[in-house]
Amino acid sequence: MSEAAHTHTAPGAASATMLSVRDLNAWYGESHVLHGVTFDVPPGKVISIVGRNGAGKTTTLRAIVGLLKKRTGSIVVEGTETIGLKPRQITRLGIGYVPEERGIFSSLSVRENFTLPRVVRPPIMDRDEIFTLFPNLAHRLNAPGTKLSGGEQQMLAMARILRTGAPLLLLDEPTEGLAPVIIEQIGETIRRLRDKGFTIVLVEQNIPFAWSLTDTFHVIEQGRVVDSIATGHGQTDAIGRLKSYLGV
Ligand SMILES: Nc1ncnc2c1ncn2[C@@H]1O[C@H](COP(=O)(O)OP(=O)(O)OP(=O)(O)O)[C@@H](O)[C@H]1O
Ligand SMILES: [Mg+2]
Repeated sequence: MSEAAHTHTAPGAASATMLSVRDLNAWYGESHVLHGVTFDVPPGKVISIVGRNGAGKTTTLRAIVGLLKKRTGSIVVEGTETIGLKPRQITRLGIGYVPEERGIFSSLSVRENFTLPRVVRPPIMDRDEIFTLFPNLAHRLNAPGTKLSGGEQQMLAMARILRTGAPLLLLDEPTEGLAPVIIEQIGETIRRLRDKGFTIVLVEQNIPFAWSLTDTFHVIEQGRVVDSIATGHGQTDAIGRLKSYLGV
C-alpha cells in the first residue's frame, strides 16, 4: 500500500485483520503470566479487554508491543508476524501504545512532548486536528508536564501517539483516577478516533464507560480469554455478565 493512498481518516482500512493474537504466552522472568491469549481486532473497531486486577490486561498490551522478553504464540499486525521482532520494529508497524502510567515527559512542556514522538507512519495528525480533539491542550502549550491535571496528562499521552501516525492504538485504562466530566471527554475523543477510522484496543475496568465505545469485549482471567461479548444485542444481560466477571 502506498503512503499516498493511506490517510489518517481511514487508517488500516485495507487489511481484513488489523491485529491477530493467537495462543499468546508470556513470562516476566520465570513467572508465566499469559497462558494462550487469543483474539482478533478488525480494522476500525474498538476492542475492550476487561478483567480483574492482575488478570493480565496490561501484560497483554505490553506483550503486543514486545516489551516482554519471553513470548510465544503469534501476534500478527496487518499481515506481519511480530513475535520475533523488537519493540521498535513492532511499533514502527503502526502501533501507538499509551501505558497505564501515561508515558509523558513531566519535565517537558506540552509543546515539547508534542514534538518528540517518532513518526511511524505518515501522514501524522496535524496540530489543528489534535487541538480540535483536545481543546484543553491548546491552552496549555507552555505548561510543564508536572503542572497538568491527570486528565490533561491522559490527553497529552493520547495526542503524542496521534503525532506518530499509528493507525492502531492500545490504551491502558485511560480513565483511571479521572473525574466523571473528564472521563466523558476521553470517551468522546475515543468515539471520534473510531469515527476517523482508527483501530483501538482499550483496557478498561469501567464497563458502563466502555460499553458505548466497544464493538467486542474480551474478558481475561488468569492470563486467558474466558469470554467474548459483542455489543449491540442483549444489552442489559451482557453488561451484567461483564460486571460479574469483575466482581462489581
Ligand atoms: N514486572 C512484573 N514482574 C513480575 N510479575 C508481574 C510484573 N507485572 C505484572 N506482573 C504480574 O503479572 C500478572 C498480570 O499483571 P497485569 O499487570 O497484566 O494485570 P492487569 O490485568 O493489568 O491488572 P490491573 O487491573 O491491576 O492493572 C499479575 O499476577 C502481576 O502480579
Ligand atoms: Mg493493568
